[in-house]
Amino acid sequence: MSDNQQNPQVVFLPEGAKRTRGRDAQHINILVGKAVASAVKSTLGPKGMDKMIVDELGDITISNDGATILQEMSIEHPVGKMMVEIAKTQDSEVGDGTTSAVVIAGGLLAEAEKLIDDEIHPSIIIKGYRLASRQALETLDLMAETIDIKDKKILRSLASTSMTGKAAEATDELAELVVEALSHVMETDGAKVLIDVDNVKVEKKTGTGLAGSELIKGIVIDKEVVHANMPKKVENAKIALIDAALEIKETETDAKIEITAPDQLQAFLDQEEGMLKKMVEQIKKSGATVVVCQKGIDDMAQHFLAKAGILAVRRVKKSDMDALIRATGGRLVTRLEDLSEKDLGHAKSVFEKKIAGDNMVFIEGCKNPKSVSLLLRGGGEHVLDEAERAVHDALMAVATAIKSGKIVTGGGAPEIEMSVRLRDYAQTVGGREQLAIEGFANALEEIPRTLAETAGMDKLDSIVSLRAKHREKKGGTTVGVDVFGSKIGDLRNKNVLEPLSVKRQAIVSASEVAEMILRIDDVIAGSTSKKSMGPGPDANMDM
Ligand SMILES: Nc1ncnc2c1ncn2[C@@H]1O[C@H](COP(=O)(O)OP(=O)(O)OP(=O)(O)O)[C@@H](O)[C@H]1O
Ligand SMILES: [Mg+2]
Repeated sequence: MSDNQQNPQVVFLPEGAKRTRGRDAQHINILVGKAVASAVKSTLGPKGMDKMIVDELGDITISNDGATILQEMSIEHPVGKMMVEIAKTQDSEVGDGTTSAVVIAGGLLAEAEKLIDDEIHPSIIIKGYRLASRQALETLDLMAETIDIKDKKILRSLASTSMTGKAAEATDELAELVVEALSHVMETDGAKVLIDVDNVKVEKKTGTGLAGSELIKGIVIDKEVVHANMPKKVENAKIALIDAALEIKETETDAKIEITAPDQLQAFLDQEEGMLKKMVEQIKKSGATVVVCQKGIDDMAQHFLAKAGILAVRRVKKSDMDALIRATGGRLVTRLEDLSEKDLGHAKSVFEKKIAGDNMVFIEGCKNPKSVSLLLRGGGEHVLDEAERAVHDALMAVATAIKSGKIVTGGGAPEIEMSVRLRDYAQTVGGREQLAIEGFANALEEIPRTLAETAGMDKLDSIVSLRAKHREKKGGTTVGVDVFGSKIGDLRNKNVLEPLSVKRQAIVSASEVAEMILRIDDVIAGSTSKKSMGPGPDANMDM
């Protein structure tokens, strides 16, 4: 094949650069894409397995979340990175369905490979895939069900389905908390519903089990009150949010102070004390009764604050400060001299409480009641981390569903419906594109096929009988893979529900990335990135 023979007369690449062209390039790229998909495939669904990833530093991540797994795997191959990108997009757009998106993309590439081997040009495949993707989305829209966004039972089902496979032991409790939390932050503007998921702050603390997690109507900060003599509870708090150190700054240049007599030392210390005292005076003058400081607070300043009856917390995270600004309506002050009453935030109550042996500060009854915190409790760090990811998926999924008001039944039902309708559609298109559209249909079936596999069912039998069921009833049925019952069944009454947008986004991103990968027929890599060329270790990570 002439594709691979580089023209010896024209040398325009740096020494050591590697170039792969034509079929070879396509094959390698497809191989990598498929390998990435197969790396996460086994995690799909409620009975999907978890992965443990150990990074160079020995840190361990145990997860079922597609986006998290791929990110932690530090994939080097550029095509692998493109696959990781779609998981990330899916995650940031709709929060859930990352594994599905990658699995479908892998399926599309596998089907394309077969077609390329049958001498069908990638541009025909791309055209067919585009037609198919448009058609599939239409089918999906037809299947969608409009929900009453106040129906908490449906919202809880959406939350539980999206937590699938993660934090399994307390899905019901967490789903309840997620829906409760969102009902606090939800705002309606006429017919429009506004939800800012960032208004739900997630805080983790080891101890008890996940079922012991709770919703706090306010903000929780994982810090303690800095001084023993400070009040541990302040009612009707006026809160100063400070981004400046309540300390004497060390000089930046090397200065030397020569002290020759004891009274000079005393004078020096007095001066320092005076400066700190002045800082506290400024805070007192503003009328603040609580200080939340992003930087440090000197011992002496702590002492003066305690004397003034002010509750103070130091070294608070930037993200917590942001949450406090939103919740209390306060303003972040960087120069103490500027602090005045109008900068202060407000909350009914600020108090310290011991959780799992550590003191945490709770800020409740905030000026903006639309700020809440989910305090997750769990046996260990890894359990908590995965629970946090599950809660993130659920918050996003429920918020997405509330915003659009549209859902579909899961368990592979939408994918089978789309594939059955695509096969009909393919015949109307005809030509070589027809084969690509049928390939698209096969790729979608990867989802129910994998779900059936994790449920210990026969893959082929399941797909055949699912297709038949969906053929029988035009207009969409909600029959899919009942993973827990290990049979084909109606999942609508089992409350396996998912937001329409999660399914839509998975199709959109999967077909986009497949198209992008199929378009490449020339890979040129400079000598420095040689190690990331070719199938390399990435291609062998079939797990
Ligand atoms: N009880 C259930 N029975 C059958 N299928 C289910 C059930 N719960 C969830 N599913 C299906 O499992 C799939 C989702 O699996 P999973 O959550 O592991 O992957 P994902 O949502 O694609 O990606 P990720 O959650 O990793 O971002 C969806 O197709 C969903 O409909
Ligand atoms: Mg999921």
